[in-house]
Amino acid sequence: MKRYLVTGGSGFIGSRFVHHILGKYNDVSLINVDKLTYAGNQENLKDVSDDDRYRFYRDDICDKKRMAEIFSEHKPEIVVNFAAESHVDRSIGAPEDFIQTDVFGTFVLLEESKKNDVERFIQISTDEVYGSTLGEPFGETDPLMPSSPYSASKTGADRLAYSYFKTYDLPVIISRASNNYGSHQYPEKLIPLFITNAIDDKQLPLYGDGLNVRDWLYADDHCSAIDFIISNGVPGEVYNVGGGNELTNIMITDRILELTGKSKELIKFVDDRPGHDRRYALDTAKLSALGWDPAIDFKTGMEKTVNWYIDNRSWWEPLKSGEYLEYYKNNYGIEL
Ligand code: NAD
Ligand code: TYD
Repeated sequence: MKRYLVTGGSGFIGSRFVHHILGKYNDVSLINVDKLTYAGNQENLKDVSDDDRYRFYRDDICDKKRMAEIFSEHKPEIVVNFAAESHVDRSIGAPEDFIQTDVFGTFVLLEESKKNDVERFIQISTDEVYGSTLGEPFGETDPLMPSSPYSASKTGADRLAYSYFKTYDLPVIISRASNNYGSHQYPEKLIPLFITNAIDDKQLPLYGDGLNVRDWLYADDHCSAIDFIISNGVPGEVYNVGGGNELTNIMITDRILELTGKSKELIKFVDDRPGHDRRYALDTAKLSALGWDPAIDFKTGMEKTVNWYIDNRSWWEPLKSGEYLEYYKNNYGIEL
């Protein structure tokens, strides 16, 4: 039996990963440690809450005492660290939580993993650590030039995790994935915000000229890549995980309007994000050579995603209230 400890398992990608592991393997136990910030949602794991193999702890990864207790009680073999503050725009307005959770929280988990001799520590990093490129896609050994407090914090965590491999022989593996999309993503990121706004005939705030480029990866593909890396990755190594779908934000917006049957008049060009990275692009040859490639094409992934938000209004509607509404009104003059 394999013992997993997943952090941030109640968020967007973490919850897909918990489903992936419990769906694929019978002989496992899985602990989910999640603080349930605004981005964590118990609805995401409601269907596994009674599963004997699963246990949830509402805790903060920065809490050294609690992490020590949880590690010593469960002796995890595989630690997968998803827990993070994850939204670039929030990191621009209020960076402190990013530094605390993304860097210090990772440090606490690394320390406990070292003390408890875990077999694998998977640090879920991001393509944003490389910064922007208008030229060649970034490979794993390219310099890191993060531009936002979010990506800088993630870079700190990424390199701190590596230092525990190099200095203490902790079997750390780092994955750097591109932008994820899919069901259960909090409606502040581009795709779920625009889908849910379009469903309700609300405006879509497109930053700057709308020509920034991201490489879109279906979240279930990201989870299968992490699972693959746990079994096949080499400790101390970094693996880029891309979707192979580089698209401008305008192209994404057009696709959402097409799939929801709404007019381009909903698009509202707004002020650009400060420090906005122009393009993220990954060279994914290393993971491909090891034997993993994404399985879900963008057309299918987007259709599934839009249909999920259409069918699951009860999941996202309650999230669009209070301070959330104030934010869009005050910053972009948009009434949601
Ligand atoms: P998310 O914001 O949806 O979820 C983050 C989860 O972490 C939430 O459940 C939240 O409650 C929890 N959390 C936050 N602070 C915590 C703390 N101090 N202690 C315990 N739990 C805490 O994020 P996501 O989009 O699912 O991203 C998950 C991970 O993947 C992050 O590390 C992110 O940097 C990385 N990543 C995300 C993307 C993407 O496009 N979303 C791409 C590449 C990498
Ligand atoms: P986002 O989903 O926040 O991911 P990230 O910034 O981490 O890549 O944004 C994706 C792209 O969409 C990015 O170029 C910023 C842009 N964007 C908008 O134009 N409008 C929006 O309301 C949001 C949230 C993002």
